[in-house]
Amino acid sequence: MTGEGTEIRAFDEAALAQATDLILAGQLVAVPTETVYGLAADATNGEAVARIYAAKGRPSFNPLIVHVPDLASAEKLGEFDAAARRLAEAHWPGPLTLVVPLLDDAGISSLVTAGLPSIALRVPAHPVMQALLRATGRPLAAPSANASGRISPTTAQHVFASLSGRIALILDGGPTERGLESTIVAVTDGRLRLLRPGPLLIEGAERTGSGDIEAPGMMASHYAPTKPVRLNATQRRDGEWLIGFGAITGDDTLSASGDLTEAAARLFACLHRADAQPVDAIAVAPVPDEGLGTAINDRLRRAAA
Ligand code: TXA
Ligand code: MG
Repeated sequence: MTGEGTEIRAFDEAALAQATDLILAGQLVAVPTETVYGLAADATNGEAVARIYAAKGRPSFNPLIVHVPDLASAEKLGEFDAAARRLAEAHWPGPLTLVVPLLDDAGISSLVTAGLPSIALRVPAHPVMQALLRATGRPLAAPSANASGRISPTTAQHVFASLSGRIALILDGGPTERGLESTIVAVTDGRLRLLRPGPLLIEGAERTGSGDIEAPGMMASHYAPTKPVRLNATQRRDGEWLIGFGAITGDDTLSASGDLTEAAARLFACLHRADAQPVDAIAVAPVPDEGLGTAINDRLRRAAA
């Protein structure tokens, strides 16, 4: 089945080879997991991750779950204490996501973690997602494969109805078993916090107080620079570090060519770099409020608030 450039292929060796080529080229592939279909991109490639947001039409950047084939791969990206390792050994592969401290040399795009010092990791049980993880050799960022505001897809046809024309390939592995997104548990200093309820009940994981969560499935603790941020700046003022865009050059740039995919990929790294400068304040050039620019501006407004 094909439509507007989006192909649904039953999973086999040839489909896996095509999916692998697409992922390694920085493109998106919809793939079944045991919970819901995910929209997968190479988590080490910021522009690939930016394409997830463009395809979903998501108006803001939230941290994404990174899928890996096994615990050993997860331990190359995040720091596992005894409590985290115990949960991983008990429930992986399976519908459990663990949020743990991000390792310095993980090599994950800062758009995946939305600039946070933590990472959400999951080892999925589905054979198709497992095959794609092993064939690509890349950690895969994958939110649910639906347009923003639509329900999560449990069949390839749901994905097609929502994202047709926006992605190249949907790997069809039949209906998903669970139909509900993974349980998310944060492990900090041996303490467990339930960030999102899901198919697995985890003993000892407490739902955090309402103050910690601003919307279902979303953390209140967003990365924000420590310095004041001034938006829509066309010139640097005294004591400022200017992050440029397009024709406004600045000290650094989101994208010299005015490319919104590149700007999204560079956003959090630019903010971190600006925050580390010996200056009093950060200024950011205007970014057009269209396409990915909407999500970029949402993040910039939060940083400036
Ligand atoms: O079942 C699932 O988990 C599906 C399938 C495709 O695997 N994936 C999924 O991914 O639901 P995603 O990326 O949409 O989940 C994102 C949620 C965020 O809303 C946030 O709650 C949490 O994961 N999250 C990700 N990184 C986090 C972090 N560093 N700290 C806290 N929460 C984080
Ligand atoms: Mg979703």
